Amino acid sequence: MASKFQAPRGTFDILPEAARERARLESAAAEIFARAGYEPIATPAFEDTALFERGVGQSTDIVRKEMFTFEDKGERSLTLRPEGTASICRAYLEHGMHKLAQPVKLSYLGPFFRHERPQAGRYRQFHQLGIECIGTDSPLADAEVIMLLSDLLGELGVPGVELRLGSLGSFEARRAYLEDLKAHLHANEADLSKDVRERIDINPLRAFDADDEGTRGVMASAPTIVERLEGEDAEHFAEVRRLLDAAGIAYIVDTSLVRGLDYYTRTIFSFVCDQLGAQSEIGGGGRYDGLVEQLGGPATPAVGFAAGIERILLALDEEVPAPGRDAFVAVADPGQRERAMALAVELRHAGLSAEVDLAGRNLKSQFKHADRVGARRVLILEADGSAKLRDMQTGEQRDADPGNLVDEMTGGGS
Ligand code: HAM
Repeated sequence: MASKFQAPRGTFDILPEAARERARLESAAAEIFARAGYEPIATPAFEDTALFERGVGQSTDIVRKEMFTFEDKGERSLTLRPEGTASICRAYLEHGMHKLAQPVKLSYLGPFFRHERPQAGRYRQFHQLGIECIGTDSPLADAEVIMLLSDLLGELGVPGVELRLGSLGSFEARRAYLEDLKAHLHANEADLSKDVRERIDINPLRAFDADDEGTRGVMASAPTIVERLEGEDAEHFAEVRRLLDAAGIAYIVDTSLVRGLDYYTRTIFSFVCDQLGAQSEIGGGGRYDGLVEQLGGPATPAVGFAAGIERILLALDEEVPAPGRDAFVAVADPGQRERAMALAVELRHAGLSAEVDLAGRNLKSQFKHADRVGARRVLILEADGSAKLRDMQTGEQRDADPGNLVDEMTGGGS
């Protein structure tokens, strides 16, 4: 009977079958990150609200509309983390990681929360995996993080992926550009959507994301920052591109690429997947050279990405088969249950997967159940202390040496 309780809107349960696919993805990512020297870090699921206001940016949709913010009993404002980068920079400073050899290379994985309108690929609690490379402005670091996400998607076999690359320039270049962009938007205000018009001075870059025809027309003739990059910003971007070319990573330069967070400088990128419909971005990131300083630390360049685990799984749409069991210890007589449990424990200690019946089934039902859980062999303990071993694939059954059951099972004979 269904309970009247359901998982909250925009959230979901991860049932064992889905958990298996996730485990495969997570271990592939952990291995790829570890091989490149990125070490795991975990931060709390909630932080002081001010961290995100300051880090992610007051003008972003995330801070303006999407945060799950609450007051604790001490009247402190806390927020369920909508993203990981601000938290990791907070931890980097709090634990003095800026005093370690730089860059500090970190990887993470976990749940994040945004109060968005739920749809396929967009949830209110979702999961990201990501890396942050903090403490270097070398274009090698930009190329490395992009390559690692490319490697991960390649190794998992995600189809139809395209990498879009852009650059926002340094903060100063960006500021000058934003003034010109605002002027362009103000000059064409009449053709803009209401939403874009109201935010010209707050977040003009978002106009590139609009899908109404009027705004799109205005944006087609808008100045883009990529074509105006100069000096070190232009060199940096050229070097990132050269490194990606040399590594054989295909990308398109997208002059209208924008991201929903305020902290980006210079390189930004987005991996999109044509299997995903409207929520097509599977992962993205970029450089955020001002964020650590913004949070009160020393000037510290950094770059990283996060990918949506649910979106990767949606794009893969595959099933990982159930693992089965090496052994099921059945009892022909209820008096043997304790012995069966002790034997299963011994088998588990010897490294095998082993189950016993926990539901009081008769022998016939125990066989059925052993089959259901995918047991490869069933040990049957008889009332007189003797034992039999059945191979579930061939159906062959033979007597087993009751004094040596663990050896019989680990020795591989059946
Ligand atoms: P983001 O683009 O906001 O970046 O999110 C990264 C990824 O998380 C997206 O590409 C998407 O796959 C997934 N995602 C975001 N929102 C949702 C949602 N509501 N439901 C399902 N999946 C979602 C960041 O969060 C940055 N912290 C990335 C970064 C790391 N930049 C530098 N370092």
